Amino acid sequence: MLLVSEPILGAEEKLALASVIDSGWITMGDRVREFEQAFARLHGAEDSVAVSSCTAALHLILHALGIGPGDEVLVPSLTFVATANSVLYVGARPVFVDIASPDVPLMSLDDAEARCSSRTKAVILVHFAGYLPEREKWQSFARRKRLLLIEDAAHAPGQPAAGTFGEAAAFSFYGNKNMTTAEGGAIIARDPLLRETIRRARSHGMTSGTRQRLDSRTPDYDVTILGFNYRMDELRAALGLVQLRRLQEWNDIRRRLSLHYRRLIVNHCSSVTVPFADEWPSAYHLMPAVLPAETSRQAVIDSLRGRGIQTTVHYPPVHRLTFYNQICQRCHLPQTEEFARRELTLPLHPRMSLVDVEFVIEALAAALSAKAAMEAVA
Ligand SMILES: Cc1ncc(COP(=O)(O)O)c(C=O)c1O
Repeated sequence: MLLVSEPILGAEEKLALASVIDSGWITMGDRVREFEQAFARLHGAEDSVAVSSCTAALHLILHALGIGPGDEVLVPSLTFVATANSVLYVGARPVFVDIASPDVPLMSLDDAEARCSSRTKAVILVHFAGYLPEREKWQSFARRKRLLLIEDAAHAPGQPAAGTFGEAAAFSFYGNKNMTTAEGGAIIARDPLLRETIRRARSHGMTSGTRQRLDSRTPDYDVTILGFNYRMDELRAALGLVQLRRLQEWNDIRRRLSLHYRRLIVNHCSSVTVPFADEWPSAYHLMPAVLPAETSRQAVIDSLRGRGIQTTVHYPPVHRLTFYNQICQRCHLPQTEEFARRELTLPLHPRMSLVDVEFVIEALAAALSAKAAMEAVA
């Protein structure tokens, strides 16, 4: 099966894991610290904080920024549910914002402006599929509206501009991301004070960790803020250090595969559109395509599956999920809803070759011309 996403894991990862086990120290220690510094360097940042997931990263950022009950946070609905959940974790209210258009399925600046109220405290931008929003426009919007600017950069590790927008950015190293630690995440926060608050809140708000107390031979610690157990461990950091060394090379392969997809779609599936312009800054996490309005997406999915090709959908809009629908009954985001109805995510990962892309597009073209795919959508 040609999968939508697949990690690259091999001998180096095995060796790195074995060396952690041999060392006898498996919880957060020197390797986590080394990983934080290496990840920060890759993004031109002073430092970063490694955590257990991107969800934890988003929660920590909102917590450390003091967002809480009575506050509203602008979020896209075209995202993974974790973006909105993190807002609820701190007791604030997520306010869903529409996308700009099917060609630019990122948060619409006009709709964000329209949905601002006196309670709006922050905006979380999601780098959908790895594609970055226009930084200067969002920075000036945030300045004008006095909003905190946060990046959900789950899809954009290794993209140099990710982590440079505002207060902080959250990255994911889940198994299907551009690099993986199985589960894991990181935070880039440029203000050292904010960064250190996040670092402390990651581990129960404690002034020192187990490893530090061992090194300093003193059992003393204090708890100065409310914290959580959102630590990364040494096994994941060791994996991360190996993966990080190849991230740029892998992102470059993703870019070449994406450009090949784009060219072939124009030539062989002209009724399909691909969001974003060719040169849009991106970490090329996903390969989203938008099917013609009248096509049965399920028939296309089934036809590709029959040829051994997995496809997925990014995303079922969060405001339409049962849980969020209960708290957001009157939400209507026409662009998001139409995009989500027609979007199909094609396989994209660095184990693929240009020939794999050609195979997918040949299968997609055949599926689109098949009668079943042209059933009118009720
Ligand atoms: C846009 C987005 N935000 C947040 C997350 C949550 O990441 P994690 O699984 O590392 O918590 C994901 C995961 O898929 C995501 O796609």
